[in-house]
Amino acid sequence: MTDFTNEYCMHTATCGELRKEDVGTEVVLTGWAWHNRDHGGLIFIDLRDRAGYTQVVVDPDCVSADDFAKAEHLGREYVLKIVGTVRERGADAANPNMATGDIEVLASSVEVLNTSVTPPFSIEDGIETDETTRMKWRYLDLRRPEMFEAIHLRHKVAQAMRTALNERGFLEVETPILANSTPEGARDYIVPSRPNPGRFYALPQSPQQFKQMLMVGGIERYYQIARCFRDEDLRADRQPEFTQVDIEMSFVEEDDVLKLMEDVMAEVLSAVGVEHQFPLERMPYAEAMDRFGNDRPDTRFGMELVNVTDIVKDSGFKVFSSVAQSGGIVKAINAKGAGDWSRGEVEKLADIAAENGAKGMAWIAFTSDGNEKSPIIKFFSDEEFAALKEALAVEPGDLVLFAADKPEVANAVLSALRLHMADALNIPREGHKLLWVVNFPMFKYDEDEKKYAAEHHPFTQIRYEDVDKIEDAPLECGSYSYDLVMDGFEAGGGTIRIHNADMQRRVLRRLGLTDEEIDEKFGHLIHALELGAPPHGGIALGLDRLVMLLANKKSIRDVIAFPKTSSASDPMTGAPSSVTARQLKEVNLRTL
Ligand code: AMO
Ligand code: AMP
Repeated sequence: MTDFTNEYCMHTATCGELRKEDVGTEVVLTGWAWHNRDHGGLIFIDLRDRAGYTQVVVDPDCVSADDFAKAEHLGREYVLKIVGTVRERGADAANPNMATGDIEVLASSVEVLNTSVTPPFSIEDGIETDETTRMKWRYLDLRRPEMFEAIHLRHKVAQAMRTALNERGFLEVETPILANSTPEGARDYIVPSRPNPGRFYALPQSPQQFKQMLMVGGIERYYQIARCFRDEDLRADRQPEFTQVDIEMSFVEEDDVLKLMEDVMAEVLSAVGVEHQFPLERMPYAEAMDRFGNDRPDTRFGMELVNVTDIVKDSGFKVFSSVAQSGGIVKAINAKGAGDWSRGEVEKLADIAAENGAKGMAWIAFTSDGNEKSPIIKFFSDEEFAALKEALAVEPGDLVLFAADKPEVANAVLSALRLHMADALNIPREGHKLLWVVNFPMFKYDEDEKKYAAEHHPFTQIRYEDVDKIEDAPLECGSYSYDLVMDGFEAGGGTIRIHNADMQRRVLRRLGLTDEEIDEKFGHLIHALELGAPPHGGIALGLDRLVMLLANKKSIRDVIAFPKTSSASDPMTGAPSSVTARQLKEVNLRTL
């Protein structure tokens, strides 16, 4: 598909656009020599550019001897300029799998614009080259058509976002990269300030405080495709620097932000050819945890968690009854289709449970020939067993897996097992499913730090009906918060903000800050809230994750032009690298 004009360049056509209608036209093509074949005196070159590839034929009767010699000695990835005439391929030579497969270009001149040493890996889709190698030669990796597609898709999504927001009166405003710490829950990247010895900037984990200041500043509708920096453990869906489509609006309530986002997402998805129903389902956080065990449920398949605490609380199986009687819960999933797994296969699942904090993993297999296998059935009465079977809608061929623990652990274990079993049983998870998870708790208790922390961030408005519980029952406070969940990932998150200075102080105090600390760290925000801050709220979408899902990739690294490895380094440039003693001295630092 040609998506750019042939102006401002050396060629008259891209390598992806010529068709039967162009037969007879003289063209100039530029690109890379992808595959070269010498067919008894005729040389065939697949010439590739970002738009596709075209077969070029070099016939010794149609080019100078000099040009023919060049064509005979082409290496992979040589950069070429070909002048030639489009001609139709015979019926038996046409290639229906190739967009330009009906034609070829008979060269009249061959110019080598640049040579190439042999590339360290093939420029082909689906290569198995290890990722660090691909990242070291990222510019070659980017030449692979699937990589170009991903980068192109990212561009289309970003532009569709801009268009949708521009049309609704949002202004694109840049905010500082050299900034102050904003608590989004990760470690900061810090930058020493030379003119201020011993003082540091923090790279923004998000533009959160600035966008709130823009609302106080009367901008009313802001967005930014903003780079964010978080020094945290990296995973397939986490990079140390990543991109948010960051949005903030004034004079809004939660429904307004959700509706705006739905309208924007509807336009963005349609711009990239994805259909989805709107408005989106809104699932309260508590329900997501109850039914799926996590706050980013993949609702494209069932296997929901079932709470069986009441059924087993008085059973003879001590593991279950003691957990149930000491405030824990017993939950289970029914993995349909795994009832005939061997004992060994089932016991291996206990490793996944253990990785998620389980102390064990009880199970009952219902074989397809109508038998039951399990180390624990003997502990249940007939009534208890019948009730379990009913609660889990058991049929022959089912495997039931249990977790008994504190709610957080039982949910984490079964949510991981549910996803694992969906993969193991090849349960279809096609298409895309977006939904809102809403009303997160305002606070959570941090066991390590022995204090309360904000579930989203401390600028989130507590539900008005819960405000009086801040001091005495913080864990019961709900909040005006919402995550956009897509295919089991958190694609975005936002909240309605506190716009009242006293309320902001109350929340920060509940998080353990003293008044002096509040003034020192958040004085600017408190002042702003005292100076006529409008009600406001917003959201940030993880652009990398959204594009990863739309591109059907497994990692956000595949939709970032220059990503970092899991140790936060860049094999291409060698970053992070050492600096000279002089540079350190200038910023008043010494390494240990
Ligand atoms: P939050 O921290 O939820 O909210 O971030 C918003 C979205 O950014 C994406 N994301 C990431 N993507 C890749 N790598 C990472 N390390 C990473 N961390 C987060 C996720 C996430 O949903 N200021 C608030 C937003 C607001 O309240 O308006 C914020 O940053 O997709
Ligand atoms: P035990 O009595 O410890 O031998 O455990 C009997 C069965 O219960 C084994 O299959 C264990 O894996 C399982 N089990 C033990 N603790 C738990 C737990 N907390 N949740 C679920 N199953 C458990």
